[in-house]
Amino acid sequence: MRYNLAKKPIAMKYIVKDDESLLKKLISDNNNAKYPWTITPYWQNYNKRIIKILKRDGLSDFQSNFELLKGFISNAYGCIPDILPPNNFIKSIIFKAVHKLPFISNIFGFYRELISDQAINIEKIQELINVDILNTINGEFTYFKPPKGICSGNPIHTFNWNEYEISNSFVEYLSRVADFYKKVNPQEVKTLLEIGPGLCWSTLAHISLNPYLERVVNVDIPSTLYVSTQFLKSIPSIEVVDYKKLLEIGIPKINHNKVQCLQIPTWELQNIDLEFDWAHNAFSFMEMEKEVVNSYRDLISQKVKKGVWLLSMVKGHKPNAGGQKSVINIEFLEKCFSSSFTKQRIDIINLSKKFGIKNQDSLFFTK
Ligand SMILES: C[S@@+](CC[C@H](N)C(=O)[O-])C[C@H]1O[C@@H](n2cnc3c(N)ncnc32)[C@H](O)[C@@H]1O
Repeated sequence: MRYNLAKKPIAMKYIVKDDESLLKKLISDNNNAKYPWTITPYWQNYNKRIIKILKRDGLSDFQSNFELLKGFISNAYGCIPDILPPNNFIKSIIFKAVHKLPFISNIFGFYRELISDQAINIEKIQELINVDILNTINGEFTYFKPPKGICSGNPIHTFNWNEYEISNSFVEYLSRVADFYKKVNPQEVKTLLEIGPGLCWSTLAHISLNPYLERVVNVDIPSTLYVSTQFLKSIPSIEVVDYKKLLEIGIPKINHNKVQCLQIPTWELQNIDLEFDWAHNAFSFMEMEKEVVNSYRDLISQKVKKGVWLLSMVKGHKPNAGGQKSVINIEFLEKCFSSSFTKQRIDIINLSKKFGIKNQDSLFFTK
């Protein structure tokens, strides 16, 4: 069961549309992808689940769809958490039947209401913290303009800050990117490559803080790539080049009125003849396999001219999480990227500490 508590007209102005033909193309070309660009074990079940939910629910309310977003957003802001049905068909039928039993359904109903009230209270408390962060960023940066459309997809809670409509999810990524631009001059970041960007919140954060940004290339697996692509299409200040458009017309020239976002699946990065100033990965290399990360490192070292910023949990996930063959910890990532880049010993994390990110989770490399 999902809840839609706050259908705000202003948020609905920027509608996230479905594009069945894009999803279909991504799924069918994924079947022809070759290792290491296939979906790694950790993400296989997520990918299946997300596709199933996309076909069932569509995208118009995706920011409040907990079942869809669980697993690839940092915090479940915008959603009411719920107990998810198992993936297995038989188990999910039993799960749904048990929920409908007279006495049990009362208990579940009671707890759902409690969880819903708590989620809304957490959003309100987080808003207070986030307003403080937004004021700090506004005081520290000469350019700070969040794009319109951040709240498209109908999160349960949004708030107005100055003339902007903001959702809590965005502010964590904004804090990360503000930390980055405290160390790197925005003029040095005209083009950016991100691997595993989730919903592309960090793209929106870069656009908010960097008026020199021209192009971002986001690389992800089909299910999440589809969601982020359609989300970015609802943001008027972005020119989105989706996978189908890319195959049809190639890479368009940079349009200086809009930031261009090329939204590409894993197997396509090797075919993209572009160079980038910086590359970024946050908390997704640690969910892949070592050969896959090495292959991304090889492409990044060919294509990236200035630097790479990685965020990852020091110890990685617990062994065998989601069927992952070997743990990817920060030590592995450090060795992996040190072959092509020079690690800089700088403490970059400041504002993003408020979201539990530590300096030990950050690796900052330059060429
Ligand atoms: C935990 S989420 C992190 C999302 C975002 N970077 C963040 O910091 O919240 C992991 C992301 O990695 C993506 N991913 C999984 N396997 C991938 C692969 N082989 N190549 C690129 N991205 C992948 C997922 O689809 C998802 O977007």
